[in-house]
Amino acid sequence: MLPEVTATRYVTPLREGGSLPGVVEADDLRTYVMKFSGAGQGRKTLVAEVISGRLAQLLGLRVPGLAVIRLDPVLGLGEPDPEVQALLRASGGLNAGLDFLSGALGFDALAYTVDPVEAGRIVWFDALVGNVDRSWRNPNMLVWHGDLWLIDHGATLIFHHGWSAAPAAVRRPYDASEHALAPFGPDVAAAAAELAPRVTHDLLAAAAADVPDVWLADEPGFATPDEVREAYVATLSARAAIGTAHITLGRPRAAGPARQPGWPSAAAVHGSERS
Ligand SMILES: Nc1ncnc2c1ncn2[C@@H]1O[C@H](COP(=O)(O)OP(=O)(O)O)[C@@H](O)[C@H]1O
Ligand SMILES: [Mg+2]
Repeated sequence: MLPEVTATRYVTPLREGGSLPGVVEADDLRTYVMKFSGAGQGRKTLVAEVISGRLAQLLGLRVPGLAVIRLDPVLGLGEPDPEVQALLRASGGLNAGLDFLSGALGFDALAYTVDPVEAGRIVWFDALVGNVDRSWRNPNMLVWHGDLWLIDHGATLIFHHGWSAAPAAVRRPYDASEHALAPFGPDVAAAAAELAPRVTHDLLAAAAADVPDVWLADEPGFATPDEVREAYVATLSARAAIGTAHITLGRPRAAGPARQPGWPSAAAVHGSERS
């Protein structure tokens, strides 16, 4: 079971990605990044965030601690930004939360080196859950206290958008050539040998059990939330067993930009101090 907390204050939106997650404080006096149930991408984004995030954690990868955050939409009344207000108003009830890693930096392949074993584990995991959101353009990794942390699993498990095609999706290829860790020589064979045997029915069921029932209720073709959970378990269990031939590695076609265009260079900011 994930900890369930109640949001007490909306602090600020995070505008880097597309879904406008927010930083909130909760009644356990901790600070979370909150993924809103009322965001345009819908509740399946939250299901993916929880199942893939928990699975990664259970496999020993670093993902911020997950929680379920209860929101009273009244929290949005004082929000001056209409976009944020609409999001809060639409997200009453349960939302997904991740421990806010205060002071974390966005991963930059030019500033941080990843060893092939760790890179291999992450690429293999991303292939398992079909994560297309870890490219050099949009790495969705943070560096915190010197370690690499994985965030943003909302776009994984895309087979859940069409359950009838899920059995066919088990063998779907995974193109890792633009993966943010492709330049580090990820050892996916070693990762598969280590991790695939650990992706057991029980492990997957534990990850799926952490999804609140309300995000799984009324799924067309399923009678109960537990039936939906079992479909995630069956699909991921089959995919974990297919080896690594479906994973395409390769170098990215172009090196990613070191910083967003338009930002001043360090030399321009610091002048001769740095030169
Ligand atoms: N747990 C966290 N701790 C600190 N910062 C975070 C955390 N999660 C996300 N962020 C920051 O917020 C940004 C957006 O979050 P993300 O999960 O990538 O959502 P999306 O891309 O869907 O908007 C990230 O790029 C990162 O800068
Ligand atoms: Mg993101």
